Amino acid sequence: EEIEKGGFEHFMLKEIFEQPSVMRDVMRGRVSVEHNALHLGGIQDHLDTLRGAKRMVILACGTSWHAGLIGKYLIEEFARICVEVDYASEFRYRNPIVGPGDVVIVISQSGETADTLAALRIAKERGATVMGICNVVGSTIARETHFGMYTHAGPEIGVASTKAFTAQVVALFMIAVQLRMGNPEMSGVETSVLLQELLAVPDKAEQILRLNDDILSIAESYWDAEHVLYLGRGYNFPVALEGALKLKEISYIHAEGYPAAEMKHGPIALIDEDVPVVFIAIRDHSYRKVLSNIEEVRSRKGRVIAIATEGDREIGRIAEHVIYIPEAAAALMPLLTVIPLQLLAYHIATLRGCNVDRPRNLAKSVTVE
Ligand code: AGP
Repeated sequence: EEIEKGGFEHFMLKEIFEQPSVMRDVMRGRVSVEHNALHLGGIQDHLDTLRGAKRMVILACGTSWHAGLIGKYLIEEFARICVEVDYASEFRYRNPIVGPGDVVIVISQSGETADTLAALRIAKERGATVMGICNVVGSTIARETHFGMYTHAGPEIGVASTKAFTAQVVALFMIAVQLRMGNPEMSGVETSVLLQELLAVPDKAEQILRLNDDILSIAESYWDAEHVLYLGRGYNFPVALEGALKLKEISYIHAEGYPAAEMKHGPIALIDEDVPVVFIAIRDHSYRKVLSNIEEVRSRKGRVIAIATEGDREIGRIAEHVIYIPEAAAALMPLLTVIPLQLLAYHIATLRGCNVDRPRNLAKSVTVE
């Protein structure tokens, strides 16, 4: 086992650090900036079906569901196709409205999650086209979908999903851009910029991993928190959910993720000096609004950890701790903003003496209801 951990203390840490190379693996042979083209083998023959979809429904559980939510933002922005995202466990018990003309995308790292599998079977039975995004080659979900794409993240041993998530987001980004390419309203030049930006992400992820020691020292100030709030907007709202899920599953601290603007509709009542708030406050079109949310938290004595864009001189004046990350296109930011949150959860959990690779009550793959 020590050899498999490759010198890291835990599989989770190893898997967090593998993300730059995993991202490169997901893109390998699929992205060509030179030809301004994508080649997504598994879906290439089904592009007309995908582009012609009445709507898309993404079904998944847990972290894969969070990736799915980012997928909705990506596909709606780039391909202008309406996308719904549902928990597989809700979809399967609801007599869902789904049928011919719909494209259902199931996302699963293991490819064995019982609810996701059951939801896929219902969608198929009712005549929808079902596409899979799976990591484990030959898994049940991968076999039962009509077609799909593998994420090639390699085996993920830590129960808390990390590299599988970023691989899913890269896959969804490529799919969204591929669908966009068929849209005559979109310009080809912009597509090549998006592909260049995508290829630059792994190096930026490496840069963020170099902040590991800084993130450990931030964790040292928060390891005994009882509740933590995570806030983000747009593409980074699902990242807030994912940051909160990582913290709760491995450190057993109660954490909640919310869209930052929803803070005023309830969670703000929780804020005091004992409830730290993690803000994803990168420089995008909602930056100013997030900044004012931070000010509201500060005025209630809340402690703020901000994930911010490199070069931002303003945020350091209002947030207690800032983790600066490189800039990228807004649609790619989740691939970067999630990394400090994974590391923060990891360090807080290890400082609390938790078994991060095998947290209590959790299984790597939930194959029973
Ligand atoms: C993530 O950290 C979790 N352990 C869990 O939410 C997981 O993402 C979920 O069970 C879905 O698994 P799957 O991707 O293998 O279907």
